[in-house]
Amino acid sequence: MQRLNGRRVLLGITAGIAAYKAVEVARLLVKDGAEVQVVMTPAAASFIGPLTLQAVTGRPVRDTLFDPQHEAAMGHIELARWADVILVAPATADFLARLAVGMADDLLSTLCLASTVRLLLAPSMNQAMWRNAATRSNVEQLVSRGTTLLGPDDGEQACGDTGPGRMLEPPVIASALCDLLGAGRLTGRRVVLTAGPTREALDPVRFLGNRSSGKMGFALAQALAAQGAEVVLISGPVALPTPGAVRRIDVESAEQMRDAVFTSLPDTAIFISCAAVADFRPCETRAKKIKKTQENLTLELVRNPDILGEVSALPRRPFCVGFAAETEDVAAYAEQKRRAKGLEMIAANQVSASSGIETDDNALLVIWDGGRQALSRQPKTRLAAQLVDLIADRFDAQTATKDS
Ligand code: C5P
Repeated sequence: MQRLNGRRVLLGITAGIAAYKAVEVARLLVKDGAEVQVVMTPAAASFIGPLTLQAVTGRPVRDTLFDPQHEAAMGHIELARWADVILVAPATADFLARLAVGMADDLLSTLCLASTVRLLLAPSMNQAMWRNAATRSNVEQLVSRGTTLLGPDDGEQACGDTGPGRMLEPPVIASALCDLLGAGRLTGRRVVLTAGPTREALDPVRFLGNRSSGKMGFALAQALAAQGAEVVLISGPVALPTPGAVRRIDVESAEQMRDAVFTSLPDTAIFISCAAVADFRPCETRAKKIKKTQENLTLELVRNPDILGEVSALPRRPFCVGFAAETEDVAAYAEQKRRAKGLEMIAANQVSASSGIETDDNALLVIWDGGRQALSRQPKTRLAAQLVDLIADRFDAQTATKDS
């Protein structure tokens, strides 16, 4: 079994003697099904040739921040978003220190700072450097911020010393990464998720739409994948990159979204409807561009299918989560909507200029049968991880009740 099937690993290599072992780490990750992008610090190339790593991973190694050719293909911010996880092996004492103070003076440290995904470090250094108070304090800081340390090992060192500071052996590092990525709360669960706006065509060039950016839905897709779910993201037109390890289906109209949802539904454990689906569409889509020959134009609209309502009404249905955007009385309207649509859970937001639609930040009131929790205003990426935790809690509770 390929335990890392389709997962995107950014493998950072810094300038330590254990850099030669990074080739084996890369090989094992690729063998386990991962897509591996190597990023080296400039000095790491003194220890190991980029061509070797390119041959093993099938991708050119990235090593400079200001490389016009690479930046044009996939800029460093895009690369930071591409990864499902960042693993730095070996991570030198100098690199730990630079990470601890948040330096971004080369490509790898910039990526670590710009990325929101899990960061794993496999330290490698002389035992005295590892024991040094400065390194101890850097490690403490990094761990307190959520960084995961793999090792180091204790034993014989390249310099002749014996003690802690050896990089863990490549199979141990690869296994630890598989365990961490495979141990998500939703591993093996299929989740279908809608996101973004829909466009309802009036004629070949015009449509009725809305302001949804898709940011919340895409952040949720990433958070679900990080918990090991098999994610199908059905998205209306948005300008966002697809999160790693997520299958994306692009649609335009509500009817196309409905078709894509129902096609994707078999074996789905959880359905999350985050899209801002247009409630109405024009009765007819004109074949030719509407001309401005008249003073007034009357459009006749017809109701769109309520995708979430239809999924929730199925006899064999997934766990259903809806969203509600309200401008007032959020809790009361959201609970009413949850009951009316028969949902396990609803996430409601108060729409204002600074929070909700089109913004990077949001706050949510999550309501389920017998409970509720307010998630405070914060970036949608962090909010998504908290919402996924709540969904997993309720889903686990429902599964436990069904099984007992
Ligand atoms: O009914 P209302 O639009 O207020 O409900 C919002 C929830 O229903 C959201 O989760 C939205 O994605 C979903 N919805 C849908 N199909 C529609 C309208 C809304 O799935 N036509």
